[in-house]
Order: sequence, then structure tokens, then C-alpha cells
Amino acid sequence: MNADIAAASRELKGGGVVVLPTETVYGLAANALDEEAVRKIFTIKGRPLNNPLILHVLDSSWLERYSYVKKYSVRVEKITGAFWPGPITIILPKKAIIPDIVTSDFNTVAIRCPDHPIFRAVLLDSDLPLAAPSANPFGYVSPTCIGQVKATLGNRVKIMLDGGECTVGLESTILDITSMVPKILRPGAITADTISKVLEEDVIDYDAQIVSKSPNAPGQLKQHYCTNTRLILFDRNRNLSQYLAGKTAIVFMQKPKNVDGIAEKLQLPLKAILWFSDDGNLDMVAKNLFSTLQRLDSVHYDTILCERPQRTGIGIAIDDRLSRAAEKFKQ
Ligand code: TXA
Ligand code: MG
Repeated sequence: MNADIAAASRELKGGGVVVLPTETVYGLAANALDEEAVRKIFTIKGRPLNNPLILHVLDSSWLERYSYVKKYSVRVEKITGAFWPGPITIILPKKAIIPDIVTSDFNTVAIRCPDHPIFRAVLLDSDLPLAAPSANPFGYVSPTCIGQVKATLGNRVKIMLDGGECTVGLESTILDITSMVPKILRPGAITADTISKVLEEDVIDYDAQIVSKSPNAPGQLKQHYCTNTRLILFDRNRNLSQYLAGKTAIVFMQKPKNVDGIAEKLQLPLKAILWFSDDGNLDMVAKNLFSTLQRLDSVHYDTILCERPQRTGIGIAIDDRLSRAAEKFKQ
């Protein structure tokens, strides 16, 4: 493994791009201080230049190098003390050392400290801040295992390190701490309630109502994470017959009590009935969400019917990803 870390580090120092695991999703990383290296990320992903990247650092001591922390130091200390390394990204005013391509000309930068030993080893070895979006083609489902990355970006990146299955499975929570009241820009595993307790102040939670297509609202693209197969969401306890369209698969949040009965009623094969978690545990749903969707997407169904989660805790983030994924298929 050490040889892999050294090779990744060398590639990054030479202006290359590598795939690295994080605890949330796999990332496509480049040296954030090298404009041309960062440009490769956008090209490989097919990502528009107006969608800024997250800067990954080894620990909070790196913050001063790349951002102006002082004015927000109380909030920064509380957040980093409680959650770093971990799945929360904070927005801070950026220093000029960060090329504008990373932040899409915004004067703020999103910074996160990932909690995966391989990513951390590369940060330590290279001593570079790494810009890293999720390692998927722009707009597609994010990868939570190396197989998913290989299936979509396989021939475009030379070095891809396998760190197993991502334990969280959803991208980090993004928190803007520069606004008067701290504000969630993207919901994730660390929720507004938990953050509010740590900060000991109000936090504006993420509100799907203000989701915008405007590029001025980075991170809030209404349509994202899309499968190629039509994806339709349904609320719990809905009559499903009305949604059946062509060859259909159904995914529930929790293993239904009567799988055979459902299969018979809807005249579907048993293998077309799936669930994200045996007991409805939402952390498990998050962990399995993207991998299940991508797996189903490769089976050539006409339609994937997916149950919506309860919008509590991490359910808010799960519902956010699902809503955006289904947006393209709304009539
Ligand atoms: O968990 C994660 O955050 C993963 C792993 C790889 O670390 N990364 C990730 O990156 O999800 P990406 O590029 O797929 O999503 C980054 C989001 C984008 O929606 C972007 O618009 C937002 O962060 N963002 C970046 N810089 C920002 C800024 N200065 N202000 C507001 N949003 C920003
Ligand atoms: Mg992404």
C-alpha cells in the first residue's frame, strides 16, 4: 500500500489526477494549487467550470494557508474540533494562493478534512491541498466503491486507489459559516440539529424549496446524481400499480414484510424488488443508496421506482439526493 500512496503522491506533484477513496464517496483529486491539474478534473468529469470544487486538507492547521479564518475562528474551532476529520465541509473566504478555477471565481472556498486513511496518507505524503469532486461523470450517481469509478471513468485516470466501500455513502454536509447565521448548503450525514448543538447557535437548515438551477447557487443544482434509467419516487404506503411502466424495479427503504405478496400483486420477479436496508436504518440506506442505484442502472430496466425516506436526520440528505436524481424524469 505504501507504494500506492507514493505513486499517487508523485502523480499529483507532477500535475496528474488520481482517484482516491474518502469516507463519503470516491474523489477525483488534483493539486489544488496547480491550475492546469485542476482543469483536468473538469475535463475528465465533463463538469462546467462554474461549479466550484472542495479543497481537502490534512487537518485544521492547514486552514490558515488557504483561507481567512480569524473572523470565524470560534465557529471554525467548534466545527473542526467536533467533526474533523469527517463528512463536513466549511465555506471560508479564500486566500489568493488558491487559483480561481478551484472556486469558480467565488471569493470563498469550500474546505474539508476527509476521514479515510488512504486519502489522509496521500495528503500527508504530498503535503498538497487536494481539490476533489466526486469521481463520477458530471451529473451521474456518485461512486461509493472502486468498481463504480472504473465503470464510468475507468480509462481516463491512470492511478485509482481502492479503499473499499465508503462508510457514509453520501457527500459531505456543506456548511456556510461566513453568513450571519450559519447555513447548510448541502445536507449530509451531519445534520443541522447536531451542528446547531455544537455551535451553540441557530443554523439555517437546507430547504428543498430554495433549490435553484442558477449557477450562482453552487452546490444546489436542481438536477444531479441522475441515473440513465427513468427514476420515479413514491411516498410510503402508496398504491404502486399506478407507477408501473415497462420493465420495472422497485426499491424500498426497508425490507418489506411481504415481498412475495408484493411480487405477486405487481407481477414482478422477486429480483426486481430491492431494499436499501433490512431494518430501515437510515445510515445503512445512505451507505447503499448510490451503489444500489448504479447497479440497477446497469441492468436495463425501463423504470426504477424508489421509495422516499422520512425527512428526519440523514433522511433529509437522502431525500435531497433522490429528488435531484428524479428531477430529470418529472413529466
Ligand atoms: O463528500 C464530499 O464532499 C465529496 C468527497 C470526494 O470529498 N466531494 C464532493 O465534491 O461531493 P463535489 O464537487 O461533487 O461537490 C462539491 C460541492 C458542489 O456542489 C459545489 O458547488 C459546492 O461543493 N461548493 C464548492 N465550493 C463552494 C463555495 N465556495 N461555495 C458554495 N458551494 C461550494
Ligand atoms: Mg458530485
